[in-house]
Amino acid sequence: MALKYESESETVKDSILGTYGRDEISFVRGKGASVWDVDGREYVDMVAGIAVNCLGHNHPRLVAAICNQASSIMHTSNLYQIENQSRLASRLASHLPGSGWKTFFSNSGAEANEAALKFAIKSTGRRKILSAHNSFHGRTALTLSVTGQPKYWKGFEHLLYKDVSFADYGSPDSFQKILDDDVACVILEPVQGEGGVILPPEGFLSEVGKMAKENGSLLIMDEVQTGVGRTGRFFAHSWEAGVKPDIVTMAKALGGGVPIGATIFSGEVAACVTAGDHGSTFGGNPLSTAAANAVLDIIDSPGFLDGACARGAMLLNGLKQVFAGTPYVADVRGRGMMIGVEMDEKSAQAFKSFAFERGFLVNIAHGKVVRLVPPLVLGEPEISAFLGMASSFAASRMQ
Ligand SMILES: Cc1ncc(COP(=O)(O)O)c(C=O)c1O
Repeated sequence: MALKYESESETVKDSILGTYGRDEISFVRGKGASVWDVDGREYVDMVAGIAVNCLGHNHPRLVAAICNQASSIMHTSNLYQIENQSRLASRLASHLPGSGWKTFFSNSGAEANEAALKFAIKSTGRRKILSAHNSFHGRTALTLSVTGQPKYWKGFEHLLYKDVSFADYGSPDSFQKILDDDVACVILEPVQGEGGVILPPEGFLSEVGKMAKENGSLLIMDEVQTGVGRTGRFFAHSWEAGVKPDIVTMAKALGGGVPIGATIFSGEVAACVTAGDHGSTFGGNPLSTAAANAVLDIIDSPGFLDGACARGAMLLNGLKQVFAGTPYVADVRGRGMMIGVEMDEKSAQAFKSFAFERGFLVNIAHGKVVRLVPPLVLGEPEISAFLGMASSFAASRMQ
């Protein structure tokens, strides 16, 4: 299919740096969990801008908050007080236990993690970072260094921070072996997203957190993909009792589509920071923090996440039934609205095309995992329709 833009100009496409393998389609409108292409064809969006559009598209309260803020003042810089930013920081802190949490605002997940790692090193006075194989933490030099997927390092090896070790996600022993008195921090995703929706075994996060603490190392929870209710709780690490991060990072869904990153530091870590240590021109400006506050108004409203969690379970269980006993599906897993269907590579691509032809957008993570990270407002009728489509795919494979 030829790519169509409203402008129909090929130069538009040709001028984009080729960092992404893009599908030949562009969307011009969205509402709820649906998007429409240039020809007016509707798709149910199970990608949500890679786990970003948590409220779906064009949520009226988010749109109103952005428009209102834009019509008064959009950007002032961090040289001045920003009321929306202070309010957002205290609301984020209220989702973590205890007090003293302080937030640094940026514009993306990589920036949120970069700040976390820099201040983990500064506050402990140690050099080493411990991360997990198969992890993803971003594309800046430092966050790339702690991303446990060597394919992303190619061509940039000389940029990588040297004092990084990797252990096996899910194995506390593997972390214990590497922890020594020069490890500043352990950075972990509560569910590995880009790595193929990998859930840790029960007890893993708390056990590694405990080991880190005993070793004087900090625990960084990378909630960039999982935060803001993706798994049915505001923070995915809170599914496990006793996980006590020192630093939590967020981005993606926090602005509901407006770029914003956040790094939340415990008071103890925050104490090492002095003015000028770090910064961001745009981070937490009045516009992005107005958007994030509007997102939290909805996400924190009573019953919202419980509903999303229940509908996520409906989708997960439905998919388990559809693919039970099929030879090309290795696993169906997930939590809340974060679901992975692991297939062989060819079947995953075939499923993506089959879904697309029937009006559903899905994404493939790690080459072979159909990743579903839909808007949290995805409704039961859309879930039933998706399951119907998945059943047709399974039936077509039996012929
Ligand atoms: C867990 C995690 N951390 C960090 C990032 C990087 O975020 P960004 O692309 O906003 O820099 C991602 C992006 O997919 C992610 O999933």
